[in-house]
Amino acid sequence: MKQEMYTTHVQQYDLVAQDNLYNAHFERPNTLELIGDVSGKKVLDLGCGSGLYAQILLARGASAVTCIDASQEMIEIVKDKLGETVSAYAQDLSKGLPEEDDAQYDLVICPLMIHYIQDLRPLFNDVKRVLKAGGEFVFSTHHPFADYECSSSGNYYEKELVKDMWNTIGDPVPVAFYRRSLQDITDAMTESGMAMLALSEGKVNDKIREISEEDYQRLSTFPNFIFIKCFSMK
Ligand SMILES: C[S@@+](CC[C@H](N)C(=O)[O-])C[C@H]1O[C@@H](n2cnc3c(N)ncnc32)[C@H](O)[C@@H]1O
Repeated sequence: MKQEMYTTHVQQYDLVAQDNLYNAHFERPNTLELIGDVSGKKVLDLGCGSGLYAQILLARGASAVTCIDASQEMIEIVKDKLGETVSAYAQDLSKGLPEEDDAQYDLVICPLMIHYIQDLRPLFNDVKRVLKAGGEFVFSTHHPFADYECSSSGNYYEKELVKDMWNTIGDPVPVAFYRRSLQDITDAMTESGMAMLALSEGKVNDKIREISEEDYQRLSTFPNFIFIKCFSMK
């Protein structure tokens, strides 16, 4: 599914996501907390966007980072920013990871991408396949409770394609994503042979309060994203 936000508006998205409330000050700190120490780790970054995570992980000592995103425009930004320090290519991740060899990564991350994929199984099965034994998979996505507000069926358990307008870059841009149950996510994880190590609904920090008291109050009382860390059982 081509997303205008991540193709036509990539430059603005990259600029905004570096320091905005929801990505930079809420999503990234919570995902990075689950990721933990990356020194010496070989990392695969799925739905890498403009490489904001890759940049941080390299600075924190990751031994190698491979970036994959459906958007060729995002991959060009990653290459412009990070050059030879990363390997980066464009691919639709709903098809899994056909270019990647078995058991080669210590860590796979996938921040804010899985809601764009209808069936998680091909991707999660391949994440498990490319992880070394005991390797970790950390991802974040829309909280199923929050997305239930967008349900047109009223059936929490029914997967639905939601069409919305987001103001992320300052102007409204159409987006489409899948709303799913928590069970749909955890089934894809456990059926692939991965087990959960941690689940977080996100901590809210003082920086968020400095930026917006209203968002601070909302994020302190209503879930927005969910953060999951699992590992490959062999
Ligand atoms: C919200 S952005 C997150 C970017 C990055 N992970 C971050 O947190 O900074 C979502 C990214 O997922 C990518 N994406 C969406 N659908 C995809 C798919 N089917 N396969 C691969 N990437 C996809 C988009 O192009 C976009 O770069």
